[in-house]
Amino acid sequence: MKIAPSILAADFLNLGKDIELLNNHADIIHIDVMDGSLVPNISFGFPVIDKVSGIARIPMDVHLMVVHPERWFERLAKEGVSMVSFHYEAAGRNTGKYIDLIHSLGMKAGVAINPDVPVEKLFSQIGKADYFLVMTVFAGFGGQKFIYESLDRVKRLSDEIRKRGANGEIQVDGGVDSGNAAALKEAGVDIIVAGSSVFKASDPAAAIAELKAF
Ligand code: DX5
Ligand code: ZN
Repeated sequence: MKIAPSILAADFLNLGKDIELLNNHADIIHIDVMDGSLVPNISFGFPVIDKVSGIARIPMDVHLMVVHPERWFERLAKEGVSMVSFHYEAAGRNTGKYIDLIHSLGMKAGVAINPDVPVEKLFSQIGKADYFLVMTVFAGFGGQKFIYESLDRVKRLSDEIRKRGANGEIQVDGGVDSGNAAALKEAGVDIIVAGSSVFKASDPAAAIAELKAF
């Protein structure tokens, strides 16, 4: 599986150091943007993305936990972001339109979904979205406990993608660590997002390598 560490758990006073670590060890940099409206928390925005962009040598993946995500696609493209996900809960019937918009800006489009929304809501975007972000905790905070019922949701989505012979990767985010990585892979996950289990580890590079081995 590909590993996308979430910088929400990084050391913000030494962010450059942590990005350099990811450049050397990870596959993707996962960047969590929260607006305090779609989710009950605020993280960071363009001033941080701009600095990360200046030194990132691996793809940046921006996870937009905001209402009206479409307002930001163009600016993210200008920052050199290559993957953007927005929440189905924020987009509703505009989901297909937003995917097209992201594609027209040359980026990969992901649709994220919280644990309390049926994963079947994403089925109509199979073949359109480049990836699906199945949240394994409720979006909003790092360091939460992995919700085990998510495994079945991943499997249902993965089975449907396979059944249709479509492309489309599955990303999971929240409480992921070496204790659940094997089950996630088995369920059909392609990309793992990990915050705490990477940055709170005594050796983050080793933690990335351990997850990668699954
Ligand atoms: C939660 C964010 C996650 C979070 C993951 O809303 O989308 O990316 O940083 O952190 P951990 O791995 O600590 O659950
Ligand atoms: Zn995230």
